Amino acid sequence: MMDEKWIDEIWRKIDKKLIRVAVERRGTLPYSTDEKGVYDDKYKTYVNFWTNGFWPGLMWLMYQGTNNEEYKITAENGEKLLDGALKNYDLLDHDMGFMWHLSSGANYRITGNQQSYVRNMYAANILSGRYNLKGGYIRAWNGSDNKGYAIIDCMMNLPLLYWASAETGDDRYKNIAISHADKTLKHHMREDGSVHHIVNYNPETGEVIDTPGGQGYQSGSSWSRGQAWAIYGFTLSYIHTKEERYLNAAKRVANYFIAACCDDYLPKSDFRSPAEPVLYDSSAGLIAACGLLELARMLPENERGMYERAAWNLIKTITDTFADWSEDTDAIITHCSQYYSANKHITMVYADFFLAEAIGKLKGINTFLW
Ligand code: GLY
Repeated sequence: MMDEKWIDEIWRKIDKKLIRVAVERRGTLPYSTDEKGVYDDKYKTYVNFWTNGFWPGLMWLMYQGTNNEEYKITAENGEKLLDGALKNYDLLDHDMGFMWHLSSGANYRITGNQQSYVRNMYAANILSGRYNLKGGYIRAWNGSDNKGYAIIDCMMNLPLLYWASAETGDDRYKNIAISHADKTLKHHMREDGSVHHIVNYNPETGEVIDTPGGQGYQSGSSWSRGQAWAIYGFTLSYIHTKEERYLNAAKRVANYFIAACCDDYLPKSDFRSPAEPVLYDSSAGLIAACGLLELARMLPENERGMYERAAWNLIKTITDTFADWSEDTDAIITHCSQYYSANKHITMVYADFFLAEAIGKLKGINTFLW
């Protein structure tokens, strides 16, 4: 099924392009590229942006696969830049995991750096502080209108809490993660295996008020990146807790996702949106692929095939169709969507992160930072 020559070639091309970008964009926190293909710098414009951990994370993935110190230097630099975000307390939200577990958490786990350990523990404590005891969920965003908002993406922030409990031997963090995961399982998950992006709870009682459309087409639709976060997020909760219900949840969303995109393996931004405009989200496909590979790893051999094949089809098709290997541009993966109503394709640094994670997994490199 898998073409090892293709995998080696893609890894070589990723390294060739990213080693230049790693050096040229050191001292910045990139998110997306401009019309000339040059990365922006969220450190300058919004250091608290939720994606800012992916750049150092991507650098750690490449360091793991190449041992090239240039990647390590850029990763360490990006992590230091993120200290600016910790100082803007009011701008911190639930994305502490995306921001710190992939930067400081990765540094600590790879090098044992004690400063990184402290940063990641601060991040875990801030995330824990967003847990609503009466509601039973981790609050997603700030602002007076959304005290009751919990979003599916948060499943990817939970590994930070599992890590904090494993490090300290104190189950408080893990208990919060499990409570949030159970609430998500109960209320985000739909009958057909798809998930809501947002569930809005009564913060005093934890009852569901409504399920706004969020970054998808509308309420009740199926934002593909949300489905991908759910596949990977439930799988991660299973990996860290070994609670069977999370594995079953991951399988249900995975089965839904595979059926929704198996006509061409190029996921649309929303699986339940009008046929026109055609709006893809490559990031959703690559996140899902990484989740599917981890899910398959957790299953008995006779159950793995379908998930491994779907992961391969997503990675191969998206890369063959939407990868930009030009040396004049900074990002690799194109055709991502920030949210449905933006109605445009952009590059996003985390699509490249999940590409590197996926190809690393296929090559047998340790690219698991969750
Ligand atoms: N976590 C926000 C997004 O996926 O766009």
